[in-house]
Parts: sequence; structure tokens; C-alpha cells
Amino acid sequence: MKKILVWDWPVRLGHWLMAGAFCVAWLTSEGETYRLIHVIAGAIVLGVASFRLPWGFIGSRYARFVDFVRGPVSVKAYLTSLLRLEPAHHVGHNPAGGWAIVALLGLGILTSLAGWGIYNDLGGNLLEELHEGLAVTMLTVVLIHLAGVFSGSLLHGENLVRAMITGFKNGLPDEAIVSARPLAGLLLLIWVAAAGWWIAN
Ligand code: HEM
Repeated sequence: MKKILVWDWPVRLGHWLMAGAFCVAWLTSEGETYRLIHVIAGAIVLGVASFRLPWGFIGSRYARFVDFVRGPVSVKAYLTSLLRLEPAHHVGHNPAGGWAIVALLGLGILTSLAGWGIYNDLGGNLLEELHEGLAVTMLTVVLIHLAGVFSGSLLHGENLVRAMITGFKNGLPDEAIVSARPLAGLLLLIWVAAAGWWIAN
């Protein structure tokens, strides 16, 4: 095994933008003082998640949903290998983590859209309850995601957080992606900035 390029720019940039914006949205969720910052943070989550969905079909190998969205048999096999403390190694996302990712992207879109509706005075109390319920559910999945990332890092002896920063993970040379897709990363930044500007105005 060598260090090979696994995560392209849109995956890495999108991840840290989404993680940062999610934290900011939580910290600014109470009261009116930081309302605009809260709305922009929600717009960033929406921008990243809406870019990530098509990227899951046309992106590089490990960004694609077909690479990591697996059926219950694969998820069970992976979780069993974890319980035996001999986790199966996956170059991309593992089958259990894959479902947390799908949930986070879906919840990111639904939570931000509900927030956008409130910001535009649509829906009243019911929409506010829905927005809060979705945000709490998302926080729960984030905590499960973090538990998975840190336990996976320990059990695999591989720093997965560093891999999400540098893009490099352990693998065989012929499993590497050929390009980090920097232009698509730039497009993501433009898309997210446009979403922030559009929603805030
Ligand atoms: C400091 C906090 C966080 C750390 C250290 C972290 C770390 C990671 C790591 C290491 C991965 C790759 C997992 C793997 O190897 O399969 C990942 C994937 C992912 N994380 Fe996080 N994460 C954090 C917070 C968040 C938050 C707050 C969200 C959402 C609100 C989030 C959403 C995602 C998504 C969607 C992916 C999949 C990336 C993709 O394929 O595009 N993460 N995270």
C-alpha cells in the first residue's frame, strides 16, 4: 500500500465548507443578532449539498454514489468486521459511512430549504418546528459521523481527517484517481458564493 490520491477538490472543499457552515449555523441559531450570518451559513450548506448531488454522478471515482452507497448486506458485513476489530479497508467511503453521508446531504438540503422558507415568511410555526427538528436530526447524524471517523481512524491506523484535507489515503497505485479536478473545485466555490449572495438578497 502507498499514499494515493483519493479525494478530489470538490469533495474536500465541499466537506470543510459544509462542516464549517454547519457549526456557524448552530452557533448563530438563537435570536435576531446574527440572523444574516445564520442565513448565509445555511446557504453555504445548501450550495455545497446541491453541488455534491450531481458530483455524485459525474465526479471522480470515489466521489460517485455508486462507489459508496451499498445495500444492507455490505453495511452489515462492514459493521461486523468493525465489531471484530478487524475493519475491512475501503479506499473510498466505507458502506456504513456512505449512508451517513447520504443522510447529511439530504438533511443539509431539507434543513436549509426550510430555513429559507422561514426567512421568506412562508409556513409559520410549523415550518419553524420542521427546521429545528431537521437541524437536531442533522446534529445527531454529524455526531454519529464523527464517532465513525475517529473510531475508523483508530481501527485502521490511518488519519482520515488528514486524508480529507490532503486527499491522500492508503491504497494500491492503480486505485488512485488521476486528477484532483481543481476546475470543478473552483466551480463549486463560485456556485456556493452565488447561493450565498442569492439567498441573502
Ligand atoms: C470537525 C468535524 C468533522 C470532521 C473531522 C470530519 C471528517 C470527515 C472525514 C474524515 C470524512 C471522510 C470519511 C471517510 O474516510 O470515508 C468526512 C466525510 C464527510 N463529512 Fe465530515 N467531518 C466533520 C464534520 C462534518 C460536518 C459538520 C458535516 C455536515 C454538516 C460533515 C459531512 C460530511 C460529508 C457530507 C462527507 C462526505 C464527503 C464527500 O464524499 O463529499 N462532516 N468527514
